[in-house]
Parts: sequence; structure tokens; C-alpha cells
Amino acid sequence: MLGVPRLHVAECESTQLLLLDRAAELPEGAVATADHQTAGRGRLGRRWTDPAGTAVLCSVLLRPPAERHPPQLALVAGLAVAEAVEVAAPGVAARVKWPNDVLVDDRKVAGVLAEMRDQAVALGIGVNVNQTEAQLPADARVPAASLRTLTGREHDRDGVLAALLERLDRRYEEWKAAGLDALLADLVARDGLRGRPIAVEGVSGRAAGIDPDGRLLLEVASGDVRAVESGQVELLDDS
Ligand code: BTN
Repeated sequence: MLGVPRLHVAECESTQLLLLDRAAELPEGAVATADHQTAGRGRLGRRWTDPAGTAVLCSVLLRPPAERHPPQLALVAGLAVAEAVEVAAPGVAARVKWPNDVLVDDRKVAGVLAEMRDQAVALGIGVNVNQTEAQLPADARVPAASLRTLTGREHDRDGVLAALLERLDRRYEEWKAAGLDALLADLVARDGLRGRPIAVEGVSGRAAGIDPDGRLLLEVASGDVRAVESGQVELLDDS
């Protein structure tokens, strides 16, 4: 069960640190949450910022079985977060932008960061919930949105967290039991990149799906399809 124990603080540097520093003594499923992070971590060394009391900021401690491939957890979480966003804000359509973003109408509402220490994974998830337009980062690589800017009303952050943990629990169990195969159809159905022009680390082409190992498929001009293990994806103009 995910969410027990829950370590909650008003403020910390990063819930990732809070959890990883105590990983040895905590059981799988432990969750650290905060109302505000002073040094929130994003992927690839970026910062993740939040105005206090507006976002869901959580880190979940997982100990995946040795036969599973931990980098796939970003996709497992992305799918769960997309589902939770739709539970919390009925009517919105959430998509996964490989490998770790959750988008609504091409705007980023959530991000996932998986960090490993020894055999433990801290799965960090940030969801923009009650930020106003003015409180969202204006200079983000991917334009940002919050549930509030999408629906025009405020949302209960604890309710969003509960939906998130419930969906993540279910998807994590499926992944542990059967690997990414168990989730692939649902993931592909939420693939926000498929068929669109993109660039990955300077190589441009068209996104051609996600393979059974969780790699992004990139079809380049020659027609060749490359499987991308990791990297930063930029959405290009469709025109
Ligand atoms: C990204 O999109 O680059 C990943 C962002 C992950 C942010 C979350 S907020 C909770 C947890 N603590 C952190 O410091 N980062 C993750």
C-alpha cells in the first residue's frame, strides 16, 4: 500500500531528499509530502518551483523487484498521474509526454523524477494544482498549466494526492507483476507525442510510439525508426 507512513512537512528543500535520507529505515510505500520546497528538483538538474500551498509535491519510496527495469517507473508514474488528473478534474484529457511529463492541451501540469539510491527508488511527483496563471513559470521549456487554470476553480490538494496514490498503487502492482506489457496499451492510448514532429537531443523526426521496453520511437527523414532510451524531447511546429 502506498502512502504509509506519510511524512509531511510545511517546508523542505526537496521531498526527494527527505525520503532518500531516511530510505534505509522506511518501508516501501512511504511517502514524503510538503507544502513548499525551497530547492525542488526537476529532471536533468533543473529546478522545480512552487508558490507555497499550491501544488502536490510528493515522493514515494519504492523497492522494485530485481527483474524489472527501474527507468520504466517514470512511465508507470506518468500514466498513473494522467489518470489521477482526470479523476481530480473531470473533463480534462491528460496525456503523457515521454518520458516524464503529463500534459493537458500541450501544457505541463505534472512532472515525474525517479532517483535511485541503493535498491530504493524515490519517485518524485509534482502536480500543479492551484497556481494562478501569474504563479506559473512564464519561461518554462514546456508551457505550464495548473488544474485551476484548466478548470477555473480551486482543487483540494489532498484529494489530488489521494487519487494519485490510488492510481499509482494500482499501476505499480501491475508493473511489478507483468512489466510494462501490462500497461502498454493504456500508455500508448495516452501518448501525447505519437505522430507529431519532435526533436530529441538535436535529432528531428516524427514520434512513432513507445516500444514494449518503454523507449520512444523516433522516425527520422530516411524512414528509419530509432528507439530512444533517454533524452529531452522538444515538440516542433506541426505546420
Ligand atoms: C520534471 O518534470 O522535471 C520532474 C519534476 C519533479 C518534481 C517533484 S516535486 C516533488 C519531488 N521533489 C522534488 O524535489 N522533485 C519532485
